[in-house]
Amino acid sequence: MNEDSIILKTISLKKYYEVRSKFLKRIKQFVKAVDDVTIEAGRGETLAIVGESGSGKTTLGMVLGKLLKPTDGRILFKELDITHSLPNHLRGKIRIVFQDPYSALNPRLKIAYSLIEPLQTMSISKRDAVEKASHYLQLMGLPESYMNYYPHMLSGGQRQRVVIARALITEPEFLILDEPTSMLDASTQAQILRLLRSIKKEKQMTYLFITHNLAVARYMADRIAVMYAGQIVEIGGKNSIFQNPLHPYTRTLLSAYPPPNPRSQWNPIIPEELAVKYYENKCRYIDRCPFKIQECEKNTPTDIKVDENHYVKCFLYVKT
Ligand SMILES: Nc1ncnc2c1ncn2[C@@H]1O[C@H](COP(=O)(O)OP(=O)(O)OP(=O)(O)O)[C@@H](O)[C@H]1O
Ligand SMILES: [Mg+2]
Repeated sequence: MNEDSIILKTISLKKYYEVRSKFLKRIKQFVKAVDDVTIEAGRGETLAIVGESGSGKTTLGMVLGKLLKPTDGRILFKELDITHSLPNHLRGKIRIVFQDPYSALNPRLKIAYSLIEPLQTMSISKRDAVEKASHYLQLMGLPESYMNYYPHMLSGGQRQRVVIARALITEPEFLILDEPTSMLDASTQAQILRLLRSIKKEKQMTYLFITHNLAVARYMADRIAVMYAGQIVEIGGKNSIFQNPLHPYTRTLLSAYPPPNPRSQWNPIIPEELAVKYYENKCRYIDRCPFKIQECEKNTPTDIKVDENHYVKCFLYVKT
């Protein structure tokens, strides 16, 4: 990717949670929710993060959204190191939208106040703030009259539109969307996704789109990163990932994804439920992998370039 067009970049980013065993309190254990993640996202692109529950998607989003401090590694925003602090002029340039529209809005605040709240730390007059609020509300397909409503007067889909308008009001360049439509019904979800796509295009924003729904990732993404046990095990262009999935985990994920033509052969591989282990000296997927080879027991796989923009962490693709 051209350095000028990179909006956000991470270098060996880590976020470990310390967990103490109930019985052996002295023994420190870590959940390596994000472990050595190096990714970049370019201007105007949507990078989808997919992976099963607990793979670390939300933690990654929260670290990038500056809601959690990383354990190690670096975050660069347009080449500026923002790992430890975000300079004032970048306030509002990175925003995050979560899954649950019911808990995201203060029930006692009218929509207008919820919308202008993120602007309060910026030097902007109240009048301009209200004008912006009305603009973004309408951009999200809601009438201006909703400014005077309270959250309980809105449906789930309408609330999520407000939450997105609230994120957009500071004119972010990088928007993290963590399962933003997964609590909504299918038609509301489709409307909001369509809107998000057109707004991104219009404003040349960059999205980090977290989802466990591969159909949604396929619709929204330009590139897809597959996360497993805190690591990006495969990353590539959307078509590359869907047409040529390489990592055994990606293949398992895709095998559980119905093909567009229901008459075509579909034999999903249902993975065995196994606790994730954060191995250090072997492949983390080894306990579940039907294709493991000797090498997987001895070393940790690193990124192997298989194609332009397509990388996989798997010994099966090491060229000898
Ligand atoms: N505050 C915390 N303290 C300890 N462990 C945590 C904490 N938050 C998350 N974890 C653990 O970190 C791992 C990654 O969690 P995370 O919520 O990032 O996963 P996820 O991919 O977003 O999952 P989901 O698809 O269910 O939302 C999980 O094992 C989770 O239990
Ligand atoms: Mg999550």
